[in-house]
Amino acid sequence: MAMALAEIFCMNAGHGNASYANNSRLQMLVLLKTRPFLEASIKDMFRNSDSNGALLRCLKVADLGCSSGPTAFMVISEIIKSIYGICQQQHHKLPEVQTFLNDLPANDFNAIFASVPAFCEGLKRELGADCHISGVPGSFYDRLFPSNTLQFIHSSYSLHWLSKVPENLENNKRNINMGRTSPPNVFRAYAEQFKKDFSKFLGLRSQEMMPWGRMLLTFQGRRLADASKDTYYMWEIMKDALLDLVAEGLVKEADVDSFNLPHYVACEGEVREIVEEEGSFAIDKLESFEIILVAPEDDEKQTRSVNTHTKSTRAVLESLLANHFGDAIMDSLFRSFAENMAEYLQLVRKPKAASIVISLTKK
Ligand SMILES: C[S@@+](CC[C@H](N)C(=O)[O-])C[C@H]1O[C@@H](n2cnc3c(N)ncnc32)[C@H](O)[C@@H]1O
Repeated sequence: MAMALAEIFCMNAGHGNASYANNSRLQMLVLLKTRPFLEASIKDMFRNSDSNGALLRCLKVADLGCSSGPTAFMVISEIIKSIYGICQQQHHKLPEVQTFLNDLPANDFNAIFASVPAFCEGLKRELGADCHISGVPGSFYDRLFPSNTLQFIHSSYSLHWLSKVPENLENNKRNINMGRTSPPNVFRAYAEQFKKDFSKFLGLRSQEMMPWGRMLLTFQGRRLADASKDTYYMWEIMKDALLDLVAEGLVKEADVDSFNLPHYVACEGEVREIVEEEGSFAIDKLESFEIILVAPEDDEKQTRSVNTHTKSTRAVLESLLANHFGDAIMDSLFRSFAENMAEYLQLVRKPKAASIVISLTKK
């Protein structure tokens, strides 16, 4: 599938019922879970602050793959609260903070910008914080900032998206990612693409960061080293939904065969190996965690859980799916996805989302 991912990929825009802004509960839970890592990382960064005057005057931070929902503002507010808390404890003058929000160009930056003034006023009232926010459209697999400028980089639930679909997936028939029935070369191709992309990301960020800069990255992960035994259940459910539409004659099987998601769930071991091999950053912490998504105990809760899963999946994937399969089948596809999701929740009562969090210091 020839696709310029950076031009078409975006979370559903705006604040409506189908928007990412209204359907990012999982990502919000992930941010809450990683809050202690964020605080620890910022605290550590300030440990050497006496010798780093710049840190105390104007701190430059970036959130990469910010999207356009409340999570983007939650990240900034958590970072600023941590910085101000530490400065107050250590009796430092409060620094100004310049925050860069990055995402792909198709992201709904307008929705973010419309909320910026009220958000900054709120921070000023609550904390006396001077916060300046700018948008940086572009791929984090390219250079985004001048050399040697940033002190802190944050990215949550974005780096599992690859720069492109790996090459040579022609034999990944009736699958849309690394699936249970994918041949071994498909797993290798995805792992290689992730390694290439993540190494490049680390190299680029190290050029943009100041020597003692910190980076906190969280992304979807898998528990088992053997990817073929730990395929991502959401993509299996989406693949089944697409094959249902093939059976109904609404989608061509060849179109499913030629569609592959540029998404990879890494395991802890390979992330460690890539960081060590690339060599620009030292690992302060690397951990995996799981979030239990809503556990459906009764029918009403199950219906709600299926709806939540379906809407949040649609908010993330619709741009990619519609680009390949066309807008016309989206409602049928997500109806079928919801049915398959309901069956899955009957089998797996407490589906979990596995994640990896890594805290790094620039060498
Ligand atoms: C699931 S959203 C997560 C957004 C936000 N960080 C959060 O926690 O809610 C993933 C975001 O990563 C962005 N993204 C994916 N690949 C990217 C790239 N190469 N460069 C910049 N942003 C990217 C997507 O556009 C999307 O907004």
